[in-house]
Amino acid sequence: GHSASTIFSHGIFGYTYDDIITMPDHISFPVTSVDLTTKLSRNVSLNIPLVSSPMDTVTESRMATGMAMLGGIGFIHYNNTIEEQVWKIGNVKRWKNGFITRPCCLHPDSTLEEIDEIHRERGFNSFPITETGKIGSKLLGLASTRDHDFIVDRSTKIKDIMTPASELIVANSTLTLEEAQDIMKKHKKGKLPIVNDSFELMSLISRSDLKKQRNYPLFSKTSGQGLLVGAAVGTRDSDRQRIAAISEAGVDIVVIDSSQGDSDFQIEMLNYIKRTQPQLDVICGNIVTVRQARRLIEAGCDGLRVGMGAGSICTTQEVCAVGRAQATAVYHVSKFAKQFNIPVIADGGISNSGHIVKALMLGASTVMMGSLLAGTEEAPGDFFFQDGMRVKRYRGMGSLEAMARGSKTRYFGDNSKIMVAQGVSGTVIDRGTVKTFIPYLVQSVRHGFQDAGIQSISQAHEALENGTLRFEIRSQAALKEGGIHGLHTYEGSSGVEKR
Ligand code: XMP
Repeated sequence: GHSASTIFSHGIFGYTYDDIITMPDHISFPVTSVDLTTKLSRNVSLNIPLVSSPMDTVTESRMATGMAMLGGIGFIHYNNTIEEQVWKIGNVKRWKNGFITRPCCLHPDSTLEEIDEIHRERGFNSFPITETGKIGSKLLGLASTRDHDFIVDRSTKIKDIMTPASELIVANSTLTLEEAQDIMKKHKKGKLPIVNDSFELMSLISRSDLKKQRNYPLFSKTSGQGLLVGAAVGTRDSDRQRIAAISEAGVDIVVIDSSQGDSDFQIEMLNYIKRTQPQLDVICGNIVTVRQARRLIEAGCDGLRVGMGAGSICTTQEVCAVGRAQATAVYHVSKFAKQFNIPVIADGGISNSGHIVKALMLGASTVMMGSLLAGTEEAPGDFFFQDGMRVKRYRGMGSLEAMARGSKTRYFGDNSKIMVAQGVSGTVIDRGTVKTFIPYLVQSVRHGFQDAGIQSISQAHEALENGTLRFEIRSQAALKEGGIHGLHTYEGSSGVEKR
């Protein structure tokens, strides 16, 4: 094999992840001892190097909560109003291990038919009843199987059968999980509504969920309250109000979201955030060259997001003919940024765990994913069937659909009459829940590191720099050989789709 500097510095080609392969080396440690702790930005560390993209079909509260519970982080998109983004950040911050922070609530005038429908679709049996039918408003009662199972007339209103609040055991939101558990045990309750001092519903604890409760030892904590959460902002004047509001809501880190981040607008926004919210780390991007990186580092960014046109839904390279092959971009920018201790996020083009291994081995500290996560339960939107497969919608933030909802500033289309799409929309297959998918990716990455004889991300970066980490370029035939080939499927075989 060759050192990365031989491969990337003496050729005229830009390489993608699939063009290169890592050489194996001696293994002297078990796979469990591979350490994937890393830096997201100058002052923010993570236990796993995985980040979900600020896209409106990828990261809202559920995804950001799931990613942080597992040791990574999610960036909440900004294709929404300031109030919506603040609410989504708040949902992540309100998460406490074991508490259901967004229980399915109903209105007192709802009928038992609605309960039946939700039960059919989502399997829930018990519902807190609140004044507005939403969390955050006054708790009026609880409707559980006991209350509604034997009622024949399903058009009956819930208010007529629910157990009223006056007869419920409730607990205050200042309680710890252990204290709440004790109350449930003592009163033999299956559900415990948690309310604030104004008797507004804040969350719910469910005994069956507690039994299923896994431990999340890696979860991403802040020094203050709650889980770590990131958010995206743009560079418009209105984004200045957004920054103040999301900072107040407790966001821990922001990314200035742009398809071409080396601009006066971005540097002005960075300066503004540093002036008004100096406690926040700011990630700038997207960029793909050292010249772009130099300007943003000189301007004071805390992290860089690398990738232009590599994303699965991107058409930037075709429409604008500007961008760079992702492996080359990650290598060069990371090498430069390392001199200033600025971590790099390799953003886009990750379609399997091997791509994550390569991004980290080429100098990135974390990887950001869109399509790989858009098919999980935690991504916004519902599953549906297409050609016999369970899928979810996924769209580029530069697609016409997404830009119509507001993301056009990412593509500098703000005041233009003619909108030029730089992304497309489509569907991605069901990947289950991030609670199993992320640990699967992490374990695969650990195996990749072990095969290369590398025990941690920092060791990979050292080996990259001193040339002991070796790579080769794959020919088209080698690429074919490395994938599944010459295989037919039979009923029950794992098929030709690699996970
Ligand atoms: P993956 O490959 O993970 O890529 O789906 C996600 C990343 O792609 C970027 N992105 C876009 N790039 N047009 C583009 O050129 C778009 O419409 C678009 N939407 C998202 C973004 O960096 C994201 O993290």
